[in-house]
Amino acid sequence: MLGTSDLAVAAAAASVPGIKLNDGNVIPQIGLGLLRIENDDVAPVVKSALAAGYRHIDGAAGYNNEGGVGRALAETGFNKGRKRSHLWVTTKLRDSEQGYDMALAAFDRQLGLLQLEYVDMYMIHWPTPFNWRSGATWKAFTKLRDEGRVKTLGVCNFLPEHLTRLYEETGEWPAVNQIELHPTWQQREVVAFCKEHGIAVEAYSPMARGADLKAGNGTIARIAEAHEVSPAQVILRWHIENGTIIIPKSVHSERQRQNLDLFGFALTLDEHAAIDALDGPERAGHDPRTFSYA
Ligand SMILES: NC(=O)c1ccc[n+]([C@@H]2O[C@H](COP(=O)([O-])OP(=O)(O)OC[C@H]3O[C@@H](n4cnc5c(N)ncnc54)[C@H](OP(=O)(O)O)[C@@H]3O)[C@@H](O)[C@H]2O)c1
Repeated sequence: MLGTSDLAVAAAAASVPGIKLNDGNVIPQIGLGLLRIENDDVAPVVKSALAAGYRHIDGAAGYNNEGGVGRALAETGFNKGRKRSHLWVTTKLRDSEQGYDMALAAFDRQLGLLQLEYVDMYMIHWPTPFNWRSGATWKAFTKLRDEGRVKTLGVCNFLPEHLTRLYEETGEWPAVNQIELHPTWQQREVVAFCKEHGIAVEAYSPMARGADLKAGNGTIARIAEAHEVSPAQVILRWHIENGTIIIPKSVHSERQRQNLDLFGFALTLDEHAAIDALDGPERAGHDPRTFSYA
C-alpha cells in the first residue's frame, strides 16, 4: 500500500502535463536540467528530483555526468521495469562525435554509462553549421530508433535555416527543438517556425540561469508577491502557459519541489502580457551559428 508521502510524490508527478510529440510519444512538460553538476555530485541531485516527483531528466554527454546519473537510476530502480516506463530520459550527442559511425559508437558508450536499455530522447546538441554533419548523424539516430534503443529524436539550438537543411537532407522534422528561451530572450521567430512544422519547443535556461528572476525592474517579483509564490515559479508558470517544455536545473531539493509546483495558480492575462513584454536583444548563452560544445 502507498504511504502518505508516496501519494504526495505520485500527485506531484501526475500534476505535470504531458506534451504529445509529432512521433506520438508523450513527454512530461517539466524535466530536471543536469548541466554544471559534477559526476560525483549528480546522483543525490537526481535522486531528490525523483523523490519530489520529477519523471523527466535532461542530460548530455557533454555534461560529463552520465555515469553518476546512471548510478542514481540503478540505485532507485528507475533503470528498468515499470518505474523505467514512467521516466523520460533525454541525453545528447557531443558535437565532436557527430557523423554516422561516431554517433553510433557514442550512443553505445552513453547507454552503458546510463545503465539503460533505451533512452527516451536523443538529441543533436548544436548544429555546428560551419562543420555540418547533422544529416549523417540523423541517419544514425533513425537506426537507433529502428532498433528501439531511442524513442524520440530531437535537436538543440537549431535555427529555422538548420531545421530546413536537416529536413531537406532527411525528409523529417525533429520531434523537439531545445533552445535557449526565457522572458528576456523569447526567440519568437524560431518558436513560430517550430509550431508551423509540428516541432515541440523545449526551453533551456528557462530562467536565464537565474538572471531573469529579477527581470523588468521587479515585474517578476511583483507578480510573485501577488500570488504568494516565488519569482522562479512565476517564470516557469509563464512557460507552462505558453505550452513550452521546461527543464529548470536546481541542485536543491526545496527548489526542485518549487519548480515542479506550478499548477496551484495561474497568471492573469495582464501578468502574462507583462512577461511577454520583457523580451530583449541579448541571449544568456551561445550563438548556434558559431558555437560548438565539443
Ligand atoms: N541544449 C543546450 O545547449 C543547453 C544549454 C544550456 C542548458 N541546457 C539544459 O537546460 C537546463 C536548465 O538550464 P540552466 O541550468 O542553464 O539554467 P536555469 O534552469 O534557467 O537556471 C538554473 C539556475 O537557477 C537556480 N535556480 C533553480 N531553481 C531556482 C529557484 N526556484 N529559485 C531560485 N533560483 C533557482 C539554480 O541554482 P541551484 O542549482 O543552486 O538551485 C541555477 O543557478 C540545463 O541544466 C541543461 O539540462 C541545455
